[in-house]
Amino acid sequence: MERVIVNDVAPRDGLQNEPAAVSSADRVRLVNALVHAGLPAVEVASFVSPTAVPNMAGADELVAGLDLDRARFSALVPNRKGYERARAAGMRGVAVVLAATETMNVRNINMSLGRAVQVCTEVLQQARHDGLATRAYVSTAFECPFEGVVADSEVERLAAAMFAAGAEEVVVADTIGAGNPKRAKELFGRLVAAFGPSPLAAHLHDTRALALANAWQALECGIRNFDASAGGLGGCPFAPGAAGNLATEDLVSLLQQAGFHTGVDLAALLSVVEHIGTLVGRPVGGRSLPWLQRRNGTQNRCGG
Ligand code: COA
Ligand code: ZN
Repeated sequence: MERVIVNDVAPRDGLQNEPAAVSSADRVRLVNALVHAGLPAVEVASFVSPTAVPNMAGADELVAGLDLDRARFSALVPNRKGYERARAAGMRGVAVVLAATETMNVRNINMSLGRAVQVCTEVLQQARHDGLATRAYVSTAFECPFEGVVADSEVERLAAAMFAAGAEEVVVADTIGAGNPKRAKELFGRLVAAFGPSPLAAHLHDTRALALANAWQALECGIRNFDASAGGLGGCPFAPGAAGNLATEDLVSLLQQAGFHTGVDLAALLSVVEHIGTLVGRPVGGRSLPWLQRRNGTQNRCGG
């Protein structure tokens, strides 16, 4: 059976935008529960300014509570300071964040596109020098909430810059969920032709109910690394209109039905999704949730 790696980003992309702050101890329990459910990789936190994203404060404390041997953990770092904090906390993997347009970089990390490329390059080079695993997001890869449609050639140019700087993986992120299957086929097809499928990952949001369809196109193009968020939680605070991520349970359900191996136990994942509902104080869950609950004979305590 062919393997697909699912990286759960609920503890970072999922919680960063929630009205309710979740304690570091609860975030540690969430990460552990995801690993227990079989997720091989988890983006656990971001080392960003606590003024910019209050929910991600305490990332250092969170990492101190993790058993770093249990899974492939990564953390988002927007600049040198974030990288130094992540490394000091003991992280073995980091993800830099580059948006595909000028305005989105300014809104998200207060840098021009050129400056963001430079900072990401320096951080990636340092991380490689220090022996950390490296990912680079190219976010708003389909469409920017401020500048509109992004050209595929620009995404390819930025991905090439991140690979040249030492990124082991480039994560093509549809931050506001504006992609559709036709464009997904074109963009992922182009990037796979340029870089091969193995160093690419897809990070999709479900704003227009097309995340799963786009994921299928990425799969058909050969991509075998996906970000997803348990319960479909997520969204960038600096990208207006961004809705939740592709729900991990929806993606895993698709992958299992299509004959891929993920290592994820959907029954255990369902318990995590229900637990996330209690953490954020509202029902959460992907489109497949009611079906999965019926299949497992469980009742959704969150009413979703
Ligand atoms: N972690 C913690 N604090 C940080 C930091 C980091 N990675 N980077 C900067 N800071 C602090 C500085 O020390 C400084 O603190 P001080 O005022 O007490 O001296 C303050 O933040 C401003 O520093 P500066 O370098 O001027 O940052 P900025 O105001 O230009 O903001 C970012 C830049 C990148 C720090 C900020 O925009 C950010 O954290 N963005 C994150 C966006 C995000 O997470 N988006 C969602 C995920 S894609
Ligand atoms: Zn996202």
